[in-house]
Amino acid sequence: MNRILVIGSLNADLVMRTKACPKAGETVHSLDNGFSQGLGGKGANQAVAAARMTPDDNTKVMMAGCVGEDAFGRTLLEGLHTDKIDTSHVQSVKGISTGVAMIIVEQTGENRILLSAGANGLVDETYVDKLESVIAESDMIILQLEIPIASVAKALEIANKHNTPVLLNPAPAFFLSDDMLSKCDYLVPNEHEAAIVLNETNVDITVDNAEKYALRLLEKGVRKAVIITLGSHGSYFVSRSGAKGFLPAAKVKAVDTTGAGDTFIGAFANQIVSGIDLKAALEFATKCSAITVQRAGAQSSIPTYSEVVSMN
Ligand code: RIB
Ligand code: NA
Repeated sequence: MNRILVIGSLNADLVMRTKACPKAGETVHSLDNGFSQGLGGKGANQAVAAARMTPDDNTKVMMAGCVGEDAFGRTLLEGLHTDKIDTSHVQSVKGISTGVAMIIVEQTGENRILLSAGANGLVDETYVDKLESVIAESDMIILQLEIPIASVAKALEIANKHNTPVLLNPAPAFFLSDDMLSKCDYLVPNEHEAAIVLNETNVDITVDNAEKYALRLLEKGVRKAVIITLGSHGSYFVSRSGAKGFLPAAKVKAVDTTGAGDTFIGAFANQIVSGIDLKAALEFATKCSAITVQRAGAQSSIPTYSEVVSMN
C-alpha cells in the first residue's frame, strides 16, 4: 500500500459570493445574501484530493496538523474521516481557534482569501520532529506554507534524511532559499507564487514565458520537476530528465476556483505514488481540477476518482 502524508493546514472556510468586492469604507450585500461554511485549508484539501483519487484503497492518506478544540476543528476531522484519511496525528488544542479562511468569491469564480492561522500556527518544529517515523514510512509527503516556515524546513530535513520524496506547494507565496528548494522533489507553485519564490515580484508569469521561470526554479535545485499552474490556462512543467511542456486545461465555466490548486496537487501526488509517469499524472490532475472549479467550496468541490474517469 502506498502512503501519502500531508503536513499542513486545516481551515474552516467562511464564504460569501459577490458581484464586486467592497472598497474601503463601503458595505455591499453578497449575492443572494448567501453565506456558506465549508471545510478547507490547503493541507486538508490536498489530503482529501489524494484520498478521493484512490480508486481501490491502494493509497493510505494521512493528515498531520493542528486544530482548535472547537466546532470547526471537530467538523474538519469528521470530514477527513468520511474520506478515510488517517487523522491520528492531528492535534486538537484547547484555548485556540481552528484556522479560519474568509473567502470572497466574485462572479467570475475568482476568490480572495483572508486567513487566520489559529491552531495551524502551533505546527512547530517539536511537533514535526515527532512525525519522524511517519515521514520515514511515507512514499511521499506534501507540504504547503500555511504552517510556520521553520516547520516546513524541518519536515524537508527529516524527509531528506529518510529519502522520502517531497512535494512542496509554496502557497501562500513566500521567498524560498535554494537550500529549501533543493530538498524538494516536486515544486508546484501557481504563476504568482512562482514569481515570489524566485524573488521576482515584478514579473508576470504567463503561458508564453512559464518555461523560463520553471527552468530557473529547477536550476535552484528542485530534484525531479517544477510544475507552474496557470489558472484556467493549464500548467507548464519541466523535469530533471528533460521532459517539458504546456498542458492546457479544458475550457469550463468557473463557478468557484477555491480548492482547484489543491485538487491538482493531491491528485497528482496520488498518481505519482501509484507509479504513473509525470505527464500522464499531470494530465489526470488537470482533469480533476477542471471539475473542482465548476463547483462551490473547497473540499465540497473535489471530485472522486470515478467522476474523473467518467468524464470525456
Ligand atoms: O487553497 C484553498 C484554501 O486556501 C481554502 O480552503 C482556504 O482554507 C485557504 O487555506
Ligand atoms: Na471550487
